[in-house]
Amino acid sequence: MTEANGNQSAATHDALENLLQENRQFPPSPEFAAAAVARPGIYEEAAADRPAFWAKQARELLSWERDFETALDWSDPPFAKWFSGGTLNAAYNALDRHVENGLGDRVAIHFEGEPGDTRSYTYAQLTEEVKKAANAFESLGVSKGDRVAVYLPMIPEAVITMLACARIGAVHSVVFGGFSAEALRSRIEDAEAKLVVTADGTFRRGKPSALKPAVDAALAEDGHTVSSVVVVRRNNEPVDWTAGRDKWWDETVGSASAEHTAVAHDAEHPLFILYTSGTTGKPKGILHTTGGYLTQCAYTHRAVFDLKPETDVFWCTADIGWVTGHSYVTYAPLINGATQLMYEGTPDSPHQGRWWELVQKYKVSILYTAPTAIRTMMKWGEDIPARYDLSSLRVLGSVGEPINPEAWMWYRRVIGGDKAPIVDTWWQTETGAHMIAPLPGITATKPGSAQVPVPGIAVDIVDETGAPVPNGHGGYLVIREPWPAMLRGIWGDPQRFKDTYWSRFEGMYFAGDGAKKDDDGDIWLLGRVDDVMNVSGHRLSTTEIESALVSHPAVAEAAVVGAADETTGEAVVAFVILRGSAAEQPQEEITAELREHVGKEIGPIAKPRRILIVPELPKTRSGKIMRRLLKDIAEGREAGDATTLADNTVMTQIANSLKG
Ligand code: WTA
Repeated sequence: MTEANGNQSAATHDALENLLQENRQFPPSPEFAAAAVARPGIYEEAAADRPAFWAKQARELLSWERDFETALDWSDPPFAKWFSGGTLNAAYNALDRHVENGLGDRVAIHFEGEPGDTRSYTYAQLTEEVKKAANAFESLGVSKGDRVAVYLPMIPEAVITMLACARIGAVHSVVFGGFSAEALRSRIEDAEAKLVVTADGTFRRGKPSALKPAVDAALAEDGHTVSSVVVVRRNNEPVDWTAGRDKWWDETVGSASAEHTAVAHDAEHPLFILYTSGTTGKPKGILHTTGGYLTQCAYTHRAVFDLKPETDVFWCTADIGWVTGHSYVTYAPLINGATQLMYEGTPDSPHQGRWWELVQKYKVSILYTAPTAIRTMMKWGEDIPARYDLSSLRVLGSVGEPINPEAWMWYRRVIGGDKAPIVDTWWQTETGAHMIAPLPGITATKPGSAQVPVPGIAVDIVDETGAPVPNGHGGYLVIREPWPAMLRGIWGDPQRFKDTYWSRFEGMYFAGDGAKKDDDGDIWLLGRVDDVMNVSGHRLSTTEIESALVSHPAVAEAAVVGAADETTGEAVVAFVILRGSAAEQPQEEITAELREHVGKEIGPIAKPRRILIVPELPKTRSGKIMRRLLKDIAEGREAGDATTLADNTVMTQIANSLKG
């Protein structure tokens, strides 16, 4: 990796060396392989004709009102069209057709609230709720193509809202409940949302936690496009009310008709926008459309998790505010007619065994979670999961960041009873669905590696010049061919779409990740090579946090880095130069204030773990901050090569100030 590309540090290098000494392998058991969804030969079949392979999946896994003629139109790269001309309705595919096929009584969602309240929805019941919500939203003036902002906790109404939008052809834009009013406001504004769906609040570690006040604050100033706010009653805390604008869900959706006919939309009709952090300050509205997205979600959910919808209980622990919650909570499980668990709360409320208690209670058979959660549970100790019967688990998934071999082995042994295959799935908000993952039943898994591209996906690792690296070497992860669930653009900014993903290497999608091929050609992900951080599997941008810091009157300049952290993967560390009189304030006071400020501007997840007050920042002659050197300090190392600094005394000045 070159310096210009950022964050690959000595620590990453050490991690890489350790990884490459990892040579354990776990082939599937013969019994698992014999019953597996993915059949041998699938890779060859898909590689022979990718568009034809995906067309076959689209027709097998989805119900089309009008069939498509062309699988892929790539005549105007990088703007792909998949299955265009075909028409379908996402909500019909997720709901009505299962009821029509006699599966109305199958449980779609088992919901468990943090306080322990439970609700289950059969496919018939969920269909009815979605129809009511669709009627209610239409009565509030929402129609095809309109945008709806969703700011909800992990409750069934989140899924119902998303599917009601899809049913109408309205475009949902879910904003994670942990984001601040300010972050919500900018997303509402960028998408020009007409409706906001929220809740009074949720529960966090046994206490009510509010959501509605953030919506009120986001809409406090005139000039926005929102005409209605629908509010789900969840924690029954008092809320402020804007008459005419605000409506209770119980009343509006509750009184709506349960008759609603789904209209089919073109395969390329926009399904949702989801904002994600990039390398610049402004989050990007990633746009996904209908037919291709649903095809790849449904296919990967079946093949990668070995899903048997009749018998499995699937549990994806991701929040609906992230892409994992979109693809593997709202869409794939329901399109596939599966039964899933949805849990509102934190893993340690009211006790650290809550997740395992849920696995036991609902007989969860497929669990999909993030390495940061696994590492946290490792810290809590294996005696906690040992108290529960986890024998129902037969496939384990990992997503969001590289999983270290130690966590992988613990997951396999302690949670998976030394037999459930682990699928480490690499993908992004932009890719929409899994791109690299083992197939259980076929792949002999390796601890810490996502290994192989999904059938029908063309991934490669290239060097600086775009040439593929040989086995045993590292480089940049790229995608060579268009794929069905690929983003169709950045909302309102086609040029940024081209610049961000398609300009680094000619004709290839550049993911922003570094990766390595081992001697077998298997892929090991090594983390971002740009200014994007990954904290507990959440994507955060260094520049976005820097902008938040400098918007505070006490801050003259700021630089943010992701420092390696045992549990969260990375932790946000900020270096700040204070302005004038602020430098005289007690440091603890000012750093506490700055952390709060970042929380308010972006959200609590973005608050720096540490803020270091420094007299100067290391910059090159062209003025670019050398984050690599700051990362060395943040990770407690001797700072590396500083010869390209404009002022080579800066590092000594910083070191002295931190000592003092
Ligand atoms: C990282 C989450 C290693 C990666 C689905 C990517 C991973 C970013 C893995 C996307 C994995 C995701 N192994 N790294 N299995 N999965 N990543 O958009 O850096 O929130 O670019 O999508 O997470 O994060 P996003």
